[in-house]
Amino acid sequence: MSDYLDRIGSGLILLDPAPLDFDFIPEKMVGREDIQSNLAAKFHSISHPNSSANVVITGPVGSGKTLLARTFCRDIEHHLRNKRQIRSVHINCRNATTNVRVAQRIVQTLDAGHPDRGLSMGELLNSLRRLLRSNERHLIIVLDEVDHLLRKSGNDLIYQLLRIDEDQEGTGTISLILISQEQVLDVLENAVISRFGHTNHLPIPSYDYEGLLAITRQRAEASLNPQSWNEEILKLIATSAAPSGDARQVIELLNGAVEHAESDGRSLLEPEHVQTRAKSIPQVMPEDVLDELTGHPMLVLLGICRRLRKTEFMTSKDVESMYAVVCEEYEVKPRSHTTVWKYLKIIEGLSIIDTRVDTVGDGRGRTTHISMPHALPMDVAGRIEGRVIKKLNRL
Ligand SMILES: Nc1ncnc2c1ncn2[C@@H]1O[C@H](COP(=O)(O)OP(=O)(O)O)[C@@H](O)[C@H]1O
Ligand SMILES: [Mg+2]
Repeated sequence: MSDYLDRIGSGLILLDPAPLDFDFIPEKMVGREDIQSNLAAKFHSISHPNSSANVVITGPVGSGKTLLARTFCRDIEHHLRNKRQIRSVHINCRNATTNVRVAQRIVQTLDAGHPDRGLSMGELLNSLRRLLRSNERHLIIVLDEVDHLLRKSGNDLIYQLLRIDEDQEGTGTISLILISQEQVLDVLENAVISRFGHTNHLPIPSYDYEGLLAITRQRAEASLNPQSWNEEILKLIATSAAPSGDARQVIELLNGAVEHAESDGRSLLEPEHVQTRAKSIPQVMPEDVLDELTGHPMLVLLGICRRLRKTEFMTSKDVESMYAVVCEEYEVKPRSHTTVWKYLKIIEGLSIIDTRVDTVGDGRGRTTHISMPHALPMDVAGRIEGRVIKKLNRL
C-alpha cells in the first residue's frame, strides 16, 4: 500500500542529510588553512588573562565567513580549556537589528533565565558586566551580517561593548568579531575605529574551482553512499559553481542532484541530475552587469531572484509582491507600479532576465512570464546583497 514510500530512507544515495544543510558545521573547514592561521594570529595573546582581540571579517557571499568564525570559536574554546575559560556567542544581525535585541541575546547566552523583556540598554550592559565578572570567562561576541545592525541602529552597541571594561577593574573581558560582505570599518565612527585598530581587517576571497571541489567532496563523503557518486559529478558541480565562487552553491547543487536522482529511483548520481541550468552559467552574465543598475532596480531584481530560486517562471504580479517584501527588509518605500514595470524592462534589456508574454483565456488577458535562463538566481541574489546598500546610499 505504501510502495510509493519505498525510496524514502532506502539509503541508495543519501545516508545522512545533515552535512547537506547550510547550517551544518563540519569538523574541518577545508582548504582555508592560511585564513584560519591569519585569524588565529590576531588572537595570538588570547590565552593570557586581560587580553582580547577585535577583528572584522569581510568577503563575498558563500566565501565561508560564518563557518570561519564558528569553527574558530568552537576550536579555541576547546584548545584553551585548561588555560582560560572562553565562551562565544554568534548572533546573526539580520534577525536582530536593534542594539537592545542584540544585547539581550548576548546576556541570555550567559544566563538563559535572564528576563528577556523591558530592559534598557544600560540595564542589559550592567547585567552583562556582572555576568562576565561572576563567571570569570572571556566572551567572544560574533556579530554576523553586522551591516544590518549598523544600518538600522548605528554603532552604539559596538562602541559600548568595546569600552565595557573602562569603568571597572578587569580588562579584556570581551573580544569582538564583526562579519560583513562589505568593508564596514570605514562606516564606523572614529571612536569605534580607534578602539578596533586599523590592522584588524581580515578580507577573505571567494572560492576558486579547487576550493569548491574540496568542499563538494567533503559533503559527498560525509553524507552519501560511497557507491553512489564519482569524481566526475563532483567536478561538474564545482565547475558549475566556479563563476560565483559561492560554497553554498555547491552544497545546493549536490543536494538537488541527490533529490533528483533519488526521485528517479536511481542509485548513482549522473550528470543529468545536476541542475541543468547550472551547466550553462559559465559567464553568460558578465560580472559587472549588475553595476548598471541603480538601487531600486536592484531591489526589484533581488525580489525576482528570491522567487526564481524556487520556481522556473514568475509573473509580473509576483515581481511586485516580492519587491514590496524586499523594500520592507531594506526599509525603503516601494516605487510605483509603472516605475517597477520600467525597471523590469531595464533588467530585461541587460539580458539578466527573459520575459515571455502569454495570451490567456479569450485572448484579452495577457500574462508576462519572467525567467532567468542564463544565471543561477541564488548567485545573482548574493551578488546584489553585497552591493545594494552602497547603491541605496545607505550605511
Ligand atoms: N572551507 C569550507 N569547508 C567546508 N565547508 C565550507 C567551507 N566554506 C564554506 N563552507 C560551507 O558553505 C556554506 C557557505 O559558507 P558560509 O560560511 O555560510 O559563507 P558566508 O558566511 O561567507 O556567506 C556553509 O554551509 C559552509 O558550511
Ligand atoms: Mg554568513
